[in-house]
Amino acid sequence: MASTPLNDSPVFRRLQTRHAETCSTTMRTRFDGEPDRFRQFSMHAAGLTLDYSKNRIDRSTLDLLLELARERDIEGHRDKLFAGEKINTTEQRAVLHTALRAPAGQGFVLDGQDIDADVQAVLTRMQIFSERVRSGDWTGRDGRAITDIVNIGIGGSYLGPKMVCQALRTFAHPRLRCHFVSNVDGHDLAAILEHIDPATTLFIIASKTFTTAETMTNARSARSWFLQSGNESDLAKHFVAVSTNLSGVTGFGIDPVNMFPFWDWVGGRYSIWSAIGLSVVILVGFPAFRAFLDGAYQMDTHFREAPLERNMPVLLAMLGVWYRNFLGSSSVSIAPYHQDLSLFAGYLQQLDMESNGKHVSADGELLTTASGPVIWGDTGTNGQHAYFQLLHQGSDLIPIDFIAVLGASHTLPGHQAALLANCFAQAEAFMRGKTADEVRVDLVAQGLDAATAEALVPHKTFSGNRPSNMLLMEALTPATLGALVALYEHKVFVQGVIWGINSFDQWGVELGKVLAKTIAQELTGTAQPAQHDSSTNALIAMARAALMHNPIAPD
Ligand code: F6P
Repeated sequence: MASTPLNDSPVFRRLQTRHAETCSTTMRTRFDGEPDRFRQFSMHAAGLTLDYSKNRIDRSTLDLLLELARERDIEGHRDKLFAGEKINTTEQRAVLHTALRAPAGQGFVLDGQDIDADVQAVLTRMQIFSERVRSGDWTGRDGRAITDIVNIGIGGSYLGPKMVCQALRTFAHPRLRCHFVSNVDGHDLAAILEHIDPATTLFIIASKTFTTAETMTNARSARSWFLQSGNESDLAKHFVAVSTNLSGVTGFGIDPVNMFPFWDWVGGRYSIWSAIGLSVVILVGFPAFRAFLDGAYQMDTHFREAPLERNMPVLLAMLGVWYRNFLGSSSVSIAPYHQDLSLFAGYLQQLDMESNGKHVSADGELLTTASGPVIWGDTGTNGQHAYFQLLHQGSDLIPIDFIAVLGASHTLPGHQAALLANCFAQAEAFMRGKTADEVRVDLVAQGLDAATAEALVPHKTFSGNRPSNMLLMEALTPATLGALVALYEHKVFVQGVIWGINSFDQWGVELGKVLAKTIAQELTGTAQPAQHDSSTNALIAMARAALMHNPIAPD
């Protein structure tokens, strides 16, 4: 990773000057003066169209941003990523999720191990197993086919499979329902157990480490619940594991033949392409999962080969850097206009914020510029009736990524045109705004007297000049979804390189985990309360008192 502070770069300083020189020119003015702005600032790759014309940029600004990308050696870092160099330096790990989606025969070798062969072998096992479950050949303890899959996992072992199962729900097998349990809050698991039959349920315990407290607590509770009506000898028909930790899996009591492995070079938030996708494969079938991998591979190929000027992840990343580091935006809103992408913003939160939510560089130096923004959002049109007010007229500049899908998989008349109209109208409104003069003319035309109209003008004026990207696809298919996820993965990678971050570790989640372990022992009485601060002491005392009336079993 680059070791020079980002703001020491002459290109960075030129971009600061560029911003000062150009910030008074609005996007509306640019569109009015540049009839071919869409053609200039849009591109296609891997089944996706990116329209980035509604950004506060011109050709020179973009050229400078790309110069910054070159100066930070994006191309060199990209090569190291694909070559399997140990770019996750704090954990001494390669980052090779791209090897999971490459077609067979790419010859990936890591530390002398033919990981290409390993990947293909696990995919074959996933295919065979999923076909058995889907056909009804894999049966539960009383010979009936499986009807319900419960994926127990958290973080990357939950967000990816849940988001993809939701996004591809129209491809789902009609007999199968997938459920996802992540929260250690027992209400999560209990709500699912109420509705399933243990004899026709398959539990997938998904955990890279097989030590994550939430997942292991839920897995143990699921097993106890199963054993209330079944025998130990039936467990093998109902519990499988996805993990890198063979001894953890066998220690839990799952037969290694029922374990689908992956490897330490797959980061948790990049693991949907691995056996962590088992629930997806079972639900939508192996060919659809392969198409999902292929879509991502197409984006990988584009990212690897396209010049930076025509490279979708690089452009998306550098636009984000422009707003974060030069215009002071601290968050990005994600607005998918497709109900089946309702979990997409949540998925991106882990991908982006766990990767780039860091304030030290890969070299251990304090960063001197801002790094990863807050990622948030919800589906259009729901967001429009909740927080778009702030996006239109609030005091912060929040860039938006619209995701629009042209085709629908339902046949309800009228909906799709209304949906797309809303999406495009919002993007246009954010860009153009509405001037005071335009508001005045409208109000007077509606018959308002001059004084009433004037009082309303400031409230009804929209500054506009609020940037957005539009990502467009023909249809939400396994392939376009794969390309979309890979696009954001590479965007996050590029931004991490610009900021000089190791995007592949996540030490920030450790402290809370350690303290929670101590406090859990104090709450269950297996350890004497230690001295915390007065607030934490008081909270523990209140919880201990409550738990005396409703005791919980220690682990
Ligand atoms: O929250 C930290 C984290 O390590 C994530 O990176 C990961 O996706 C999640 O926990 C779950 O980890 P595991 O799959 O090992 O249970």
